[in-house]
Amino acid sequence: MTNAPLFAGMGGHQTPRKTRTDEWLTPPAVMNALGEFDLDPCSPIERPWPTARQHFTIRDNGLILPWWGRVWLNPPYLASVIARWLGRMAEHNRGIALIFARTETAAFHRFVWRRASALLFLRGRLDFLTVEGRPASSTSANAGAPSVLCAYGEADAEVLAFCGLQGQFVPLRISRSVVVVGLEQTWLEAVAEWMRTRRGAVELAEIYRAFANHRKAAANQNYRAKIRQVLQQGAGRRVARGRWSAP
Ligand SMILES: C[S@@+](CC[C@H](N)C(=O)[O-])C[C@H]1O[C@@H](n2cnc3c(N)ncnc32)[C@H](O)[C@@H]1O
Repeated sequence: MTNAPLFAGMGGHQTPRKTRTDEWLTPPAVMNALGEFDLDPCSPIERPWPTARQHFTIRDNGLILPWWGRVWLNPPYLASVIARWLGRMAEHNRGIALIFARTETAAFHRFVWRRASALLFLRGRLDFLTVEGRPASSTSANAGAPSVLCAYGEADAEVLAFCGLQGQFVPLRISRSVVVVGLEQTWLEAVAEWMRTRRGAVELAEIYRAFANHRKAAANQNYRAKIRQVLQQGAGRRVARGRWSAP
């Protein structure tokens, strides 16, 4: 892969002149909404929480190691390497990447517009976290652009479609059957599917939040009651008062 022309303007989540700003971590609320990942190929050496079953760090150089399973990619900021990370993701074609929405760049065209299965342009600006778990906005650095989640492979396009994170979903390469299934999904199927992406039990309030912007909720003002109803009908398993796990 040639580098130079692809990198111009792509940028990462950070201002490059700051030291250690490539250690900006994904907010756990975003990770929780997307379910479990097998591999995070670019993870801090000292991480405050796991982002996948296996992590590669800069010591391993996740850019050159083999990738496996469902990959979570929030690549390092360096404009000189971001296209290489996206190239690996496009080639692997299974998982989700979180990058700046620099939609006009060559790297975005080559590895996102042409290769991703779906996008979710996140509403507002993400507040990334430092390795100490503090909001990066409390430091002098800041996230200088909006972020977009990029799905690779059909399964992850579906995850983005129904994850409940606020933003605009844009399908790119989803087979017609998947779109139809998504549109025709019942409340019970939608809630059960979301519950299966959780790690352990979740509060009812979290389930409400996840579905607040779901297209089914837009058509049903009483969506909270609907969610309670389908949980009792088998979309979830009650583990304690107000707490549910996957069926
Ligand atoms: C933007 S942070 C994302 C951290 C974490 N994956 C997350 O989503 O919260 C990028 C991470 O990539 C790490 N990194 C940089 N170069 C790397 C390399 N060649 N191989 C593996 N990790 C690397 C940095 O140390 C940093 O922790």
